[in-house]
Amino acid sequence: MAIWDERVRKCVQRLKPYIPGKPIEEVQRELGLSDVIKLASNENPLGPSPKAVEAAMRALSHVHLYPDDSCYRLKKAIAEHYCMPEDCILIGRGSDEILLHAALAFIEPGDEVIYAHPSFVMYSFVSTLMDAKEHVVPLKDFTHDLDAMAECVTERTKLIFISNPNNPTGTIVKEPNVRCFVESLPNGVLVIFDEAYREYVDDEAFPNTLDYVRDGLSVLTLRTFSKAYGLAGLRIGYGFAPPCIAELISRVREPFNVSSIAQAAAEAALQDKEHVERSRELVIEGKNMLYRAFDELGLKYVPTQANFIFVDLGIDSREAFNQLLRCGIIIRTGEIFGMPTWARITIGKPEENERLVEALKKILLCR
Ligand SMILES: Cc1ncc(COP(=O)(O)O)c(C=O)c1O
Repeated sequence: MAIWDERVRKCVQRLKPYIPGKPIEEVQRELGLSDVIKLASNENPLGPSPKAVEAAMRALSHVHLYPDDSCYRLKKAIAEHYCMPEDCILIGRGSDEILLHAALAFIEPGDEVIYAHPSFVMYSFVSTLMDAKEHVVPLKDFTHDLDAMAECVTERTKLIFISNPNNPTGTIVKEPNVRCFVESLPNGVLVIFDEAYREYVDDEAFPNTLDYVRDGLSVLTLRTFSKAYGLAGLRIGYGFAPPCIAELISRVREPFNVSSIAQAAAEAALQDKEHVERSRELVIEGKNMLYRAFDELGLKYVPTQANFIFVDLGIDSREAFNQLLRCGIIIRTGEIFGMPTWARITIGKPEENERLVEALKKILLCR
Protein backbone atom coordinates (compact mmCIF):
# COMPACT_ATOMS: atom_id res chain seq x y z
CA MET A 1 0.00 0.00 0.00
CA ALA A 2 2.93 2.29 -0.77
CA ILE A 3 0.54 4.66 -2.52
CA TRP A 4 -0.68 5.90 0.85
CA ASP A 5 2.83 6.96 1.83
CA GLU A 6 2.64 9.35 -1.11
CA ARG A 7 -1.01 10.39 -0.68
CA VAL A 8 -0.59 11.39 2.95
CA ARG A 9 0.10 15.11 3.53
CA LYS A 10 3.80 15.95 3.17
CA CYS A 11 3.98 17.23 6.72
CA VAL A 12 2.46 14.01 8.04
CA GLN A 13 5.25 12.13 6.23
CA ARG A 14 7.70 14.13 8.34
CA LEU A 15 5.85 13.60 11.63
CA LYS A 16 7.62 11.49 14.20
CA PRO A 17 5.14 9.73 16.47
CA TYR A 18 5.25 10.75 20.13
CA ILE A 19 7.03 8.10 22.21
CA PRO A 20 5.38 7.97 25.63
CA GLY A 21 7.04 6.73 28.82
CA LYS A 22 6.80 2.93 29.05
CA PRO A 23 3.61 1.91 30.88
CA ILE A 24 3.92 -0.12 34.10
CA GLU A 25 1.71 -2.93 32.80
CA GLU A 26 3.85 -3.35 29.68
CA VAL A 27 6.99 -3.79 31.79
CA GLN A 28 5.19 -6.23 34.09
CA ARG A 29 4.04 -8.23 31.09
CA GLU A 30 7.35 -8.20 29.20
CA LEU A 31 9.68 -8.88 32.14
CA GLY A 32 7.35 -10.90 34.35
CA LEU A 33 7.77 -8.44 37.21
CA SER A 34 5.03 -7.60 39.69
CA ASP A 35 6.52 -4.61 41.51
CA VAL A 36 7.22 -1.92 38.94
CA ILE A 37 7.52 1.84 39.53
CA LYS A 38 7.32 4.52 36.89
CA LEU A 39 9.61 7.53 37.21
CA ALA A 40 9.27 8.40 33.54
CA SER A 41 6.27 10.64 32.85
CA ASN A 42 6.28 13.18 35.68
CA GLU A 43 3.02 11.93 37.13
CA ASN A 44 1.99 12.46 40.74
CA PRO A 45 3.15 9.50 42.88
CA LEU A 46 0.49 10.34 45.49
CA GLY A 47 -2.23 9.68 42.95
CA PRO A 48 -5.35 11.81 42.57
CA SER A 49 -7.06 13.70 45.37
CA PRO A 50 -9.66 11.41 47.02
CA LYS A 51 -12.13 14.26 46.55
CA ALA A 52 -11.49 14.18 42.80
CA VAL A 53 -12.03 10.41 42.75
CA GLU A 54 -15.37 10.80 44.57
CA ALA A 55 -16.49 13.51 42.14
CA ALA A 56 -15.47 11.34 39.17
CA MET A 57 -17.46 8.40 40.58
CA ARG A 58 -20.54 10.61 40.97
CA ALA A 59 -20.14 11.84 37.39
CA LEU A 60 -19.94 8.25 36.13
CA SER A 61 -23.63 7.67 36.71
CA HIS A 62 -24.44 10.42 34.18
CA VAL A 63 -22.24 9.25 31.32
CA HIS A 64 -25.22 8.48 29.11
CA LEU A 65 -25.37 12.27 28.64
CA TYR A 66 -22.89 14.35 26.67
CA PRO A 67 -20.67 16.50 28.85
CA ASP A 68 -21.29 20.22 29.40
CA ASP A 69 -19.71 21.60 26.23
CA SER A 70 -19.00 24.97 27.86
CA CYS A 71 -17.35 23.46 30.98
CA TYR A 72 -19.43 26.04 32.86
CA ARG A 73 -18.77 24.87 36.43
CA LEU A 74 -15.09 24.17 35.93
CA LYS A 75 -14.49 27.49 34.20
CA LYS A 76 -16.23 29.28 37.04
CA ALA A 77 -14.11 27.40 39.60
CA ILE A 78 -10.88 28.21 37.72
CA ALA A 79 -11.93 31.86 37.33
CA GLU A 80 -12.49 32.13 41.10
CA HIS A 81 -9.34 30.23 41.99
CA TYR A 82 -7.12 32.53 39.91
CA CYS A 83 -9.22 35.72 39.98
CA MET A 84 -9.35 35.67 36.18
CA PRO A 85 -12.30 36.56 33.94
CA GLU A 86 -14.08 33.51 32.55
CA ASP A 87 -13.72 34.63 28.95
CA CYS A 88 -9.92 34.27 29.30
CA ILE A 89 -10.17 30.57 30.07
CA LEU A 90 -9.72 27.62 27.73
CA ILE A 91 -10.24 24.01 28.75
CA GLY A 92 -8.79 21.11 26.79
CA ARG A 93 -8.34 17.37 26.73
CA GLY A 94 -4.98 17.94 28.42
CA SER A 95 -3.01 21.11 27.89
CA ASP A 96 -1.62 19.29 24.84
CA GLU A 97 -4.95 19.76 23.13
CA ILE A 98 -4.88 23.51 23.74
CA LEU A 99 -1.39 23.61 22.20
CA LEU A 100 -2.78 21.84 19.17
CA HIS A 101 -5.77 24.22 19.06
CA ALA A 102 -3.46 27.25 19.13
CA ALA A 103 -1.45 25.79 16.26
CA LEU A 104 -4.61 24.92 14.29
CA ALA A 105 -6.03 28.39 14.83
CA PHE A 106 -2.97 30.43 13.90
CA ILE A 107 -0.48 28.58 11.71
CA GLU A 108 -0.72 28.68 7.93
CA PRO A 109 1.81 26.54 6.01
CA GLY A 110 5.13 28.38 6.00
CA ASP A 111 4.36 30.51 9.05
CA GLU A 112 7.15 30.45 11.57
CA VAL A 113 7.39 29.18 15.10
CA ILE A 114 10.20 29.27 17.64
CA TYR A 115 10.96 26.82 20.38
CA ALA A 116 13.96 25.56 22.32
CA HIS A 117 15.91 22.31 22.22
CA PRO A 118 15.74 20.17 24.22
CA SER A 119 12.20 20.99 25.24
CA PHE A 120 8.75 19.44 25.24
CA VAL A 121 8.29 17.38 22.07
CA MET A 122 4.73 18.54 21.42
CA TYR A 123 5.98 21.93 20.14
CA SER A 124 7.75 20.19 17.30
CA PHE A 125 4.80 17.83 16.77
CA VAL A 126 2.11 20.49 16.37
CA SER A 127 4.40 22.73 14.30
CA THR A 128 5.33 19.94 11.88
CA LEU A 129 1.67 18.95 11.63
CA MET A 130 0.76 22.50 10.59
CA ASP A 131 3.68 22.69 8.13
CA ALA A 132 5.27 25.56 9.99
CA LYS A 133 8.86 26.68 9.52
CA GLU A 134 10.50 25.74 12.81
CA HIS A 135 13.29 27.77 14.43
CA VAL A 136 14.84 25.53 17.04
CA VAL A 137 17.02 27.44 19.49
CA PRO A 138 19.49 25.49 21.66
CA LEU A 139 19.20 25.97 25.40
CA LYS A 140 21.99 27.98 27.00
CA ASP A 141 23.16 26.53 30.32
CA PHE A 142 20.14 24.19 30.13
CA THR A 143 17.81 27.25 30.06
CA HIS A 144 15.80 28.99 27.35
CA ASP A 145 17.97 31.57 25.59
CA LEU A 146 15.42 34.36 25.23
CA ASP A 147 17.84 36.70 23.42
CA ALA A 148 18.60 34.07 20.78
CA MET A 149 14.88 33.29 20.48
CA ALA A 150 14.08 36.99 19.97
CA GLU A 151 16.66 37.12 17.18
CA CYS A 152 14.72 34.44 15.26
CA VAL A 153 11.55 36.53 15.07
CA THR A 154 10.53 37.52 11.55
CA GLU A 155 7.38 38.96 9.96
CA ARG A 156 6.05 35.41 9.64
CA THR A 157 6.53 34.40 13.27
CA LYS A 158 3.21 33.36 14.75
CA LEU A 159 3.98 31.30 17.86
CA ILE A 160 6.79 31.03 20.39
CA PHE A 161 6.67 28.07 22.78
CA ILE A 162 8.29 28.32 26.19
CA SER A 163 8.14 25.39 28.57
CA ASN A 164 8.51 27.02 31.97
CA PRO A 165 9.77 25.05 33.87
CA ASN A 166 11.39 23.41 30.90
CA ASN A 167 10.83 19.74 30.22
CA PRO A 168 13.37 17.97 30.39
CA THR A 169 15.79 20.29 32.23
CA GLY A 170 13.49 21.69 34.95
CA THR A 171 14.99 25.17 34.52
CA ILE A 172 12.95 28.37 34.42
CA VAL A 173 13.12 31.73 32.70
CA LYS A 174 12.70 34.56 35.18
CA GLU A 175 11.58 38.11 35.72
CA PRO A 176 12.35 40.78 34.69
CA ASN A 177 13.74 39.18 31.51
CA VAL A 178 10.52 37.41 30.59
CA ARG A 179 8.30 40.49 30.59
CA CYS A 180 10.96 42.44 28.64
CA PHE A 181 11.06 39.60 26.11
CA VAL A 182 7.27 39.55 25.65
CA GLU A 183 7.01 43.33 25.44
CA SER A 184 9.83 43.52 22.90
CA LEU A 185 8.02 41.31 20.37
CA PRO A 186 6.23 42.75 17.36
CA ASN A 187 2.43 42.73 17.31
CA GLY A 188 0.89 39.44 16.29
CA VAL A 189 3.38 37.05 17.89
CA LEU A 190 1.73 34.81 20.48
CA VAL A 191 3.96 33.54 23.28
CA ILE A 192 2.77 30.25 24.75
CA PHE A 193 3.99 29.75 28.30
CA ASP A 194 3.58 26.07 29.04
CA GLU A 195 3.43 25.98 32.84
CA ALA A 196 2.54 22.31 33.33
CA TYR A 197 4.85 22.17 36.38
CA ARG A 198 3.98 25.59 37.86
CA GLU A 199 2.78 24.17 41.17
CA TYR A 200 6.26 22.83 42.00
CA VAL A 201 8.13 26.11 41.41
CA ASP A 202 9.60 27.76 44.49
CA ASP A 203 11.75 30.44 42.83
CA GLU A 204 10.20 33.85 43.46
CA ALA A 205 11.50 35.22 40.18
CA PHE A 206 9.08 32.94 38.29
CA PRO A 207 6.98 35.19 36.04
CA ASN A 208 3.31 35.74 36.82
CA THR A 209 2.09 35.29 33.27
CA LEU A 210 -1.54 35.54 34.37
CA ASP A 211 -0.74 39.21 34.97
CA TYR A 212 0.44 39.41 31.36
CA VAL A 213 -2.94 38.04 30.27
CA ARG A 214 -4.72 40.58 32.52
CA ASP A 215 -2.57 43.29 30.91
CA GLY A 216 -3.72 42.16 27.45
CA LEU A 217 -0.28 41.00 26.27
CA SER A 218 -0.21 38.42 23.47
CA VAL A 219 0.25 35.45 25.73
CA LEU A 220 -1.33 32.04 26.21
CA THR A 221 -0.55 30.45 29.58
CA LEU A 222 -1.11 26.70 29.81
CA ARG A 223 -1.66 24.74 33.01
CA THR A 224 -2.67 21.15 33.59
CA PHE A 225 -4.45 18.82 35.96
CA SER A 226 -2.06 16.02 34.93
CA LYS A 227 0.83 16.75 37.26
CA ALA A 228 0.39 18.20 40.79
CA TYR A 229 -3.37 17.52 40.60
CA GLY A 230 -2.76 13.87 39.76
CA LEU A 231 -5.34 13.50 36.96
CA ALA A 232 -3.12 12.57 33.98
CA GLY A 233 -5.32 9.63 33.03
CA LEU A 234 -8.40 11.82 32.69
CA ARG A 235 -6.73 14.16 30.17
CA ILE A 236 -7.67 17.65 31.25
CA GLY A 237 -5.77 20.93 31.09
CA TYR A 238 -6.56 24.63 30.91
CA GLY A 239 -5.20 27.88 29.65
CA PHE A 240 -5.55 31.65 29.89
CA ALA A 241 -5.34 34.19 27.09
CA PRO A 242 -6.77 37.65 26.46
CA PRO A 243 -10.45 37.12 25.46
CA CYS A 244 -9.98 37.93 21.75
CA ILE A 245 -7.21 35.32 21.47
CA ALA A 246 -9.07 32.76 23.62
CA GLU A 247 -12.15 33.12 21.43
CA LEU A 248 -10.18 32.46 18.23
CA ILE A 249 -8.46 29.41 19.69
CA SER A 250 -11.73 27.97 20.97
CA ARG A 251 -13.23 28.11 17.45
CA VAL A 252 -11.23 25.04 16.41
CA ARG A 253 -12.29 23.01 19.41
CA GLU A 254 -14.47 20.03 18.59
CA PRO A 255 -17.76 19.79 20.54
CA PHE A 256 -17.69 17.97 23.88
CA ASN A 257 -13.91 17.67 23.86
CA VAL A 258 -13.62 17.35 27.65
CA SER A 259 -15.39 14.43 29.33
CA SER A 260 -17.89 15.02 32.12
CA ILE A 261 -15.80 12.81 34.43
CA ALA A 262 -12.69 14.89 33.81
CA GLN A 263 -14.61 18.15 34.36
CA ALA A 264 -16.07 16.95 37.67
CA ALA A 265 -12.78 15.54 38.95
CA ALA A 266 -10.85 18.67 37.98
CA GLU A 267 -13.32 20.93 39.76
CA ALA A 268 -12.96 18.87 42.95
CA ALA A 269 -9.16 18.61 42.59
CA LEU A 270 -8.88 22.37 42.34
CA GLN A 271 -10.60 22.76 45.72
CA ASP A 272 -8.33 20.18 47.42
CA LYS A 273 -5.49 22.56 48.26
CA GLU A 274 -4.05 20.16 50.86
CA HIS A 275 -3.50 17.46 48.28
CA VAL A 276 -1.60 19.83 46.01
CA GLU A 277 0.45 21.06 48.98
CA ARG A 278 1.32 17.50 49.98
CA SER A 279 2.33 16.74 46.41
CA ARG A 280 4.54 19.83 46.36
CA GLU A 281 6.20 18.97 49.67
CA LEU A 282 6.86 15.43 48.51
CA VAL A 283 8.67 16.77 45.46
CA ILE A 284 10.78 19.24 47.45
CA GLU A 285 11.81 16.52 49.93
CA GLY A 286 12.48 14.02 47.15
CA LYS A 287 14.53 16.45 45.14
CA ASN A 288 16.83 17.20 48.08
CA MET A 289 17.27 13.49 48.76
CA LEU A 290 18.08 12.80 45.10
CA TYR A 291 20.49 15.75 44.88
CA ARG A 292 22.41 14.30 47.84
CA ALA A 293 22.47 10.84 46.28
CA PHE A 294 23.58 12.14 42.88
CA ASP A 295 26.31 14.21 44.58
CA GLU A 296 27.57 11.08 46.36
CA LEU A 297 27.60 9.21 43.06
CA GLY A 298 29.45 12.10 41.41
CA LEU A 299 26.67 12.61 38.86
CA LYS A 300 26.08 15.95 37.19
CA TYR A 301 22.45 17.14 37.32
CA VAL A 302 20.46 20.27 36.61
CA PRO A 303 18.80 21.85 39.69
CA THR A 304 15.10 21.62 39.01
CA GLN A 305 11.95 23.67 39.55
CA ALA A 306 9.75 20.77 38.48
CA ASN A 307 8.98 17.22 39.67
CA PHE A 308 11.78 15.63 37.65
CA ILE A 309 15.56 15.87 37.49
CA PHE A 310 17.72 15.83 34.38
CA VAL A 311 20.84 13.92 35.26
CA ASP A 312 23.96 12.81 33.40
CA LEU A 313 24.44 9.13 34.20
CA GLY A 314 27.81 9.16 32.48
CA ILE A 315 26.94 6.00 30.53
CA ASP A 316 24.62 5.33 27.62
CA SER A 317 21.26 6.05 29.27
CA ARG A 318 19.61 3.36 27.11
CA GLU A 319 21.83 0.83 28.84
CA ALA A 320 20.96 2.32 32.25
CA PHE A 321 17.29 2.33 31.24
CA ASN A 322 17.38 -1.39 30.38
CA GLN A 323 19.18 -2.32 33.58
CA LEU A 324 16.77 -0.24 35.68
CA LEU A 325 13.84 -1.87 33.86
CA ARG A 326 15.09 -5.24 35.03
CA CYS A 327 14.93 -3.83 38.59
CA GLY A 328 11.34 -2.74 37.90
CA ILE A 329 12.12 0.97 37.53
CA ILE A 330 11.06 2.94 34.45
CA ILE A 331 12.90 6.19 33.65
CA ARG A 332 13.17 8.37 30.55
CA THR A 333 16.36 8.22 28.50
CA GLY A 334 18.04 11.33 27.17
CA GLU A 335 18.36 10.12 23.60
CA ILE A 336 14.92 11.48 22.68
CA PHE A 337 16.28 14.87 23.74
CA GLY A 338 19.50 14.31 21.77
CA MET A 339 21.57 13.83 24.96
CA PRO A 340 22.34 10.11 25.11
CA THR A 341 24.09 9.92 28.50
CA TRP A 342 21.40 11.97 30.22
CA ALA A 343 18.16 10.75 31.75
CA ARG A 344 15.04 12.48 33.02
CA ILE A 345 13.90 10.98 36.28
CA THR A 346 10.58 11.81 37.91
CA ILE A 347 10.76 12.45 41.65
CA GLY A 348 8.76 9.72 43.37
CA LYS A 349 7.76 8.78 46.90
CA PRO A 350 10.67 8.44 49.38
CA GLU A 351 10.75 4.65 49.07
CA GLU A 352 10.69 4.90 45.27
CA ASN A 353 13.56 7.40 45.26
CA GLU A 354 15.55 5.14 47.57
CA ARG A 355 14.91 2.14 45.35
CA LEU A 356 16.12 4.12 42.34
CA VAL A 357 19.28 5.25 44.12
CA GLU A 358 20.12 1.72 45.28
CA ALA A 359 19.63 0.38 41.74
CA LEU A 360 21.71 3.21 40.25
CA LYS A 361 24.51 2.55 42.73
CA LYS A 362 24.64 -1.08 41.65
CA ILE A 363 24.60 -0.21 37.97
CA LEU A 364 27.13 2.60 38.10
CA LEU A 365 29.52 1.30 40.74
CA CYS A 366 29.70 -2.25 39.36
CA ARG A 367 31.09 -1.05 36.03
C1 LIG B 1 5.93 20.79 29.44
C2 LIG B 1 4.71 19.94 29.34
N1 LIG B 1 3.58 20.47 28.87
C3 LIG B 1 2.45 19.74 28.76
C4 LIG B 1 2.44 18.42 29.13
C5 LIG B 1 1.20 17.61 28.91
O1 LIG B 1 0.21 18.03 29.71
P1 LIG B 1 -1.26 17.43 29.56
O2 LIG B 1 -1.26 16.12 30.22
O3 LIG B 1 -2.11 18.45 30.24
O4 LIG B 1 -1.56 17.35 28.10
C6 LIG B 1 3.58 17.82 29.59
C7 LIG B 1 3.55 16.39 29.95
O5 LIG B 1 4.50 15.74 30.19
C8 LIG B 1 4.75 18.59 29.71
O6 LIG B 1 5.88 18.05 30.14
